[in-house]
Amino acid sequence: MLATRTIVEDILELKQERRAILLAHHYQEAEIQELADWVGDSLELARKARDFEGDVIAFCGVWFMAETAKVLNPTRTVIVPDREASCSLVESCAVEPVRAYRQRHPDHVIVSYINTSVEVKAESDILCTSRNAVQVVNSIPPEKTVLFLPDQNLGNYVQRQTGRCNMKIWQGTCIVHATFPARRVVATRSEHPDALIVAHPECPQAVLDMADFIGSTSAIIDYCVRSDAREFIVMTESGVGHSLRKLAPDKIFHFVANENCNCSECPYMRLNTLEKLRDALQNLEPRVEIAEDLMRRARVPLDRMLALR
Ligand code: 13P
Ligand code: SF4
Repeated sequence: MLATRTIVEDILELKQERRAILLAHHYQEAEIQELADWVGDSLELARKARDFEGDVIAFCGVWFMAETAKVLNPTRTVIVPDREASCSLVESCAVEPVRAYRQRHPDHVIVSYINTSVEVKAESDILCTSRNAVQVVNSIPPEKTVLFLPDQNLGNYVQRQTGRCNMKIWQGTCIVHATFPARRVVATRSEHPDALIVAHPECPQAVLDMADFIGSTSAIIDYCVRSDAREFIVMTESGVGHSLRKLAPDKIFHFVANENCNCSECPYMRLNTLEKLRDALQNLEPRVEIAEDLMRRARVPLDRMLALR
């Protein structure tokens, strides 16, 4: 009797046929991360996508990340397992008010987090990720007023780090990080007094104030792996636990549930599954399609960010 083919075998075969690369964000299910050619934070994945020379980028992350990949490498086919994999920050920031702001304040510098739609990127002067947001804002002449959008927690963090007064901050939030309650972090720390607290800058200030380290998903993983400490309270999406447990099997990681889902999983990221990835590779759908002019305009602020070292 013939053995049934597994989804994993199908994906690996399709990947080869399609000359595809599989890029995965740290918030993907462990089984997707295991199959990926590269797992990273949003900045690392953007660079990988830009430099890819094959035909298809299968982006296991959320839609704005795949749009970014398309803008940076427009001749490749970019697919995502689930078209509904959005982001609450993208949803919080429509393009019309950003355009209106730009018209009212043509002299202000618009710094957009990469968690924005391609339309908002096209209206921006420079982009940033959680990894380089402080560096990006510091690169702007101090006399210029900055509009930072859309994440208020990241914006407030950047403002505290840079000491910049002339900075206006959009009021968007991440539904996962913004609802991590500080009292639950305090309770977890009292149960594990030796644990260090590591946090993503999308967390509220009360959580960041308790953190021993603040950084992007990859920076959090690097910090925990290199640290001499053995126990950590990890204030970000629990998908990072996969790399943490692989790279530091002897260390202990605690995740704190937020008040939104009483979990620490991103509902958008978790829409992607192995089955949907296989189907996307098979059908080359859902596929990112962006008008040429929009891509050209969105590329400018992306390139400005990527040029910063
Ligand atoms: P990173 O850039 O740190 O990977 O973060 C992306 C994100 O969506 C965090 O919620
Ligand atoms: Fe967006 Fe938050 Fe999900 Fe990151 S974790 S993709 S910021 S909703």
